[in-house]
Amino acid sequence: MHSAMIGLGTCLPSRLVTNAELAEGLDTSDEWIVSRTGIRSRYWVEPGTATSDLAVEAGLRALKSAGLAPEDIDVVALATTTPDHPCPATAPDVASRLGLGPVAAYDIAAVCSGFLYALAMGHAQIVAGQARTVLVIGADAYSTILNPDDRATRVIFGDGAGAVVLTASDVPGRPGTVLGAHLGSDGAHKDLIRIPAGGSRQPVTADTASADRYFVMEGTKVFRQAVRHMSESATTLLGRIGWQTGEIDHLVGHQANARILGALAGHLDIPVERAVVDIDRVGNTSAASIPLALAHAAGQGRFTRGDRVLMTAFGGGLTWASAAITWPDITPL
Ligand code: ACO
Repeated sequence: MHSAMIGLGTCLPSRLVTNAELAEGLDTSDEWIVSRTGIRSRYWVEPGTATSDLAVEAGLRALKSAGLAPEDIDVVALATTTPDHPCPATAPDVASRLGLGPVAAYDIAAVCSGFLYALAMGHAQIVAGQARTVLVIGADAYSTILNPDDRATRVIFGDGAGAVVLTASDVPGRPGTVLGAHLGSDGAHKDLIRIPAGGSRQPVTADTASADRYFVMEGTKVFRQAVRHMSESATTLLGRIGWQTGEIDHLVGHQANARILGALAGHLDIPVERAVVDIDRVGNTSAASIPLALAHAAGQGRFTRGDRVLMTAFGGGLTWASAAITWPDITPL
């Protein structure tokens, strides 16, 4: 049994935040942000909007894009670092609000690699015969965990959600087929990207410093690790599935930094024009980054049915992941 992607939906919050707006309250500038990251704008949720709200909207659009009804889905795999609550998981609420019935629903915590981890799990469940159709969602509302005083993270992250529908397929060459996935981690570097307090290691108390409740990242160290692990993971996957780098039509890397995307294409020896860049518009949307980039590129008419698409991501944990698909005959919504 194979799995194939048959639908794609996305959701961005309505509030557009420009670099100029951020420079009003932080010691930063549009010039620094654009030259160091490639980001020109991002979208943030309004107070009261949660990750699940974005995930439900993206899920609805993915179902519509796939032409499926809620009862056709039997698993929801939701990747997020910003669940609605520390407990319980957000996926069951999303499944319930989408009217999917008593389906299996679980969260995946792999930070910016989360969407590809979730895609790999959905694919594996289908290939193993545990599920026929899986809704894979990457959704994050990073603006809710950013330190308002930390210019190094506040300018980088945006909010959003993207969802794909994977379904069982017995036609190996069908456009949309997931060719395979590769996943990895290195917990020795767990401190490079983290929220110090709020878990069992450092529960939040009345004495917790406010900075410890927010997301922190050692950007320069992470940069080097990101390029290395994404290229190694992608190369391992390509070796497994027998694709040459020259045969890749589109490289869809996690949108963490435009300079990382350029370096990644160089390491993989893929022409930089084949790398999809969406970070200028939406910033780093963590688990939503890859499906948002897929939808944006498809919306620009860059993808043709059957094109070879290599996706690779990197994030806190550290974690990394790659997956390869051929482009399906779909209209992302
Ligand atoms: N505006 C102006 N100056 C800034 C800003 C800002 N917004 N942020 C940092 N600076 C300053 C720093 O204070 C530093 O100043 P100093 O030299 O006086 O100390 C200087 O700019 C350089 O800082 P660096 O952190 O070294 O800047 P760098 O060029 O590395 O860019 C960035 C930072 C954009 C974060 C980059 O390191 C990066 O993209 N890292 C990788 C991020 C990534 O891949 N993350 C993984 C996925 S995300 C996840 O999993 C959640």
